[in-house]
Amino acid sequence: MIASLKEAVNFGGVVAFTGAGVSAESGIPTYRGTGGFWTKYDPDKYASIDYFEQDPSYYWRFFRDTRLDLLRHPKPNPAHLALAELETRGKLQAVITQNIDGLHQEAGSRKVIELHGSSRKFHCLECCRSYLLEEIEAELEKHLPPLCADCNGILRPDIVFFGEMLPPGAIEEAMDLASRASLLLVIGSSLVVYPAAQIPMAAKSCGARLAIINDEPTPADGLSDWVLMGKAGEILPQLL
Ligand code: OAD
Repeated sequence: MIASLKEAVNFGGVVAFTGAGVSAESGIPTYRGTGGFWTKYDPDKYASIDYFEQDPSYYWRFFRDTRLDLLRHPKPNPAHLALAELETRGKLQAVITQNIDGLHQEAGSRKVIELHGSSRKFHCLECCRSYLLEEIEAELEKHLPPLCADCNGILRPDIVFFGEMLPPGAIEEAMDLASRASLLLVIGSSLVVYPAAQIPMAAKSCGARLAIINDEPTPADGLSDWVLMGKAGEILPQLL
């Protein structure tokens, strides 16, 4: 099975669609399943825009206690590195990711569409001044939520909370790339969060072949030309 998928990858026209599972081997927990963030933290409190607007300190405490350390020492794993290498070799056109950890870029991927934003960038809710991770680390030790150095406004991450729209143009660009792909590699996603989860179906209906690489079954397995069950960091390097 891996040999025929490798042949299809070699043909080119590949687009990757990734979720939290691609970063699991970098030590970042997934959202669902054993040990997932949402088994310990209620996403209605920690990931919803309504709740953030009521009390941003919940999100910021979650960020400080669970995310900050992981983001400080980014470690792309063999799955991220294999995707970057496929792009360098001209086989992979883009990575469409639901992840906010920046690990694809850290691995060297250049064309990355972040459907759910980035947890390495922030801005002030009042004056819109932008901040990078390094700039808010010290502020987080002093204030929770962190405040803008210019106007004392509350800072927010440039991520998509539940209840918000995706970044302008992101889903359209992702759909366009997926619909023109020869092969969509779907890696490490439970495929339950929409609109992102409709991308594999859209690609398939436009003629792309689908390969699912995940360590558990997904709702798109029945549609797929290849289902490779296992760890992304072990499977993807075999496609090079
Ligand atoms: P999930 O946590 O829902 O799913 C991760 C998938 O990866 C699961 O099916 C795991 O079994 C699988 N997995 C875990 N480790 C793996 C490994 N080493 N190799 C291969 N597969 C592995 O994450 P997403 O589908 O990305 O949204 O979640 C989608 C969205 O829900 C996230 O972007 C986030 C979340 O709430 C927002 O915050 C808006």
